[in-house]
Amino acid sequence: MEKVPEPVLLRPWRDTDADALLAISSSDPDLVRQMPPVVSAEDAVRVIAERFPWSTEHVNAAIVVAGRAVGNVSVTNIRREGPAAGTAWISYLSAADVRGRGLVGRATAALCTWALRDLGLARLELGYRQNNPASGAVARRAGFATEGLERQKLVYDGVRYDVVTCSRLASDPVPPAEGVTIQPA
Ligand SMILES: CC(C)(COP(=O)(O)OP(=O)(O)OC[C@H]1O[C@@H](n2cnc3c(N)ncnc32)[C@H](O)[C@@H]1OP(=O)(O)O)[C@@H](O)C(=O)NCCC(=O)NCCS
Repeated sequence: MEKVPEPVLLRPWRDTDADALLAISSSDPDLVRQMPPVVSAEDAVRVIAERFPWSTEHVNAAIVVAGRAVGNVSVTNIRREGPAAGTAWISYLSAADVRGRGLVGRATAALCTWALRDLGLARLELGYRQNNPASGAVARRAGFATEGLERQKLVYDGVRYDVVTCSRLASDPVPPAEGVTIQPA
């Protein structure tokens, strides 16, 4: 029998997600590279307001599973003018205890499809460290094609890392995203 995918809700972050955000932040010290450290539930409320808005310029969607926010998918740097009009940047993260269940891949696939269609974007971009295979798998699952390699682009703790660059165009095939519901602000 075919397995039914876990239902995933993508919606704006709320103050009531503070404990969940604190738990995500505490689950993996390496997440400090993706989001500011969160030291308390009160601090989480501030981080939600400052770092995870859902607006016309930045979309930050909480990945909610069984009522708990377990991760985030972002569409940021949305450009509406100039030669790069119609482009935006995609990023994602999840709590360590829910990884490997396909949640982020499906969530990212769905939010990117929504962004290309409902936000009228033409091209989504992302980059991941070459030594982060899970992130690369999420990008492929979400319909991104590899474009190139930015050699020694990032430095963490004195070590330089190559970054794989990817894009998904509005004209690219739409990846499946079963079980994902999007409730925008
Ligand atoms: C990257 C990250 C979001 C992936 O989250 P996740 O919950 O494991 O993602 P999913 O379960 O949806 O999918 C992961 C995919 O990676 C694969 N994967 C997981 N760990 C892997 C590993 N070590 N090597 C190879 N593939 C791996 C899974 O099999 C799955 O592939 P599939 O869709 O083909 O089955 C998570 O590890 C994370 O938050 N890392 C820290 C932040 C980060 O690196 N963000 C990305 C910055 S570019």
